[in-house]
Amino acid sequence: IDEGNGVKGLAEMGLKSLPKQYVQPLEERIDASKVVPEESIPIIDMSNWDDPKVAESICDAAETWGFFQIVNHGVPIEVLENVKESTHLFFGLPAEEKMKYAKEHSPSNNVRFGTSFSPKAEKALEWKDYLSLFYVSDDEASALWPPACKDEVLEYMKRSDLVIKRLLKVLMRGLNVNEIDETKEPLLMGSKRINLNYYPICPNPELTVGVGRHSDVSTLTILLQDEVGGLYVRGIDGGGDSWIHVPPINGSLVINVGDALQIMSNGKYQSIEHRVVANGSKNRISVPIFVNPRPSDKIGPLREVLASGEKPKYKEVLYSDYVKYFFKKAHDGKETVEFAR
Ligand code: SIN
Ligand code: FE2
Repeated sequence: IDEGNGVKGLAEMGLKSLPKQYVQPLEERIDASKVVPEESIPIIDMSNWDDPKVAESICDAAETWGFFQIVNHGVPIEVLENVKESTHLFFGLPAEEKMKYAKEHSPSNNVRFGTSFSPKAEKALEWKDYLSLFYVSDDEASALWPPACKDEVLEYMKRSDLVIKRLLKVLMRGLNVNEIDETKEPLLMGSKRINLNYYPICPNPELTVGVGRHSDVSTLTILLQDEVGGLYVRGIDGGGDSWIHVPPINGSLVINVGDALQIMSNGKYQSIEHRVVANGSKNRISVPIFVNPRPSDKIGPLREVLASGEKPKYKEVLYSDYVKYFFKKAHDGKETVEFAR
């Protein structure tokens, strides 16, 4: 593998068939028989976000689905288009340019170009390249993030802040937390990571995955996807191997509950397994913002949630330990949350 150019480099060598490291076991692949075409996740219009009915639909979606799309969220369409364009710009750079951000070369641990998810831990690799950016400050971002995308990504992060706050406000009210004060705010959204994902055209898409089954470790994830499609969430019955497509809607953002919010809500809000299929004819990009607690925060069921006498389903864990545990293993569905049992 030409590490400098990731899976994109492989794809562009004109491979006729998928290298065997990428062949996933049968149970990790999706075929049409596992897809439930008649189901879909909620689509919520955020223009009247504070209206009790809208607020209720947000909390319901977080409880029942853990996944929903929002429209009229206030992030301008140009901002979204610019991020997508700059994502293509970054991945289109020559290998030696991207290589500057690979693990061994990157100017900082907060900036990382890589491929697959956790290659050392994986039995089969994932057909994806990524640039992962941990936000510390505007100054650091300006100095260290790749010039091909830094301004657009920063702008997107800034402009999405308000909708994140609105969602959290509504979701917290649903947990009897009536105010997001100076201690709650950093716990819910004290750190952010943004990933640029690139899923190149794959010679045998049915044999591999773009991303394997997992739930996010975030509080909330705000995901921008392009028009290609391929993101699936586990069907609402939970136990069965059924999957629901998240259709691209121009201008929408996909919101999903992460493990940290599941834990803080004592299981009321659910982080849901999701996965991405590979595509045989189109390159796909996606840009998730992971809204997280600070690494130094202890996360556990919130006091307000337990006030009613509910028994805690999770113990307190240090968030940085939780994240470390997630990254040490391959994608394995919802196993990470067991770390907090
Ligand atoms: C992910 O959940 O890791 C990626 C989601 C996507 O690309 O749509
Ligand atoms: Fe995810």
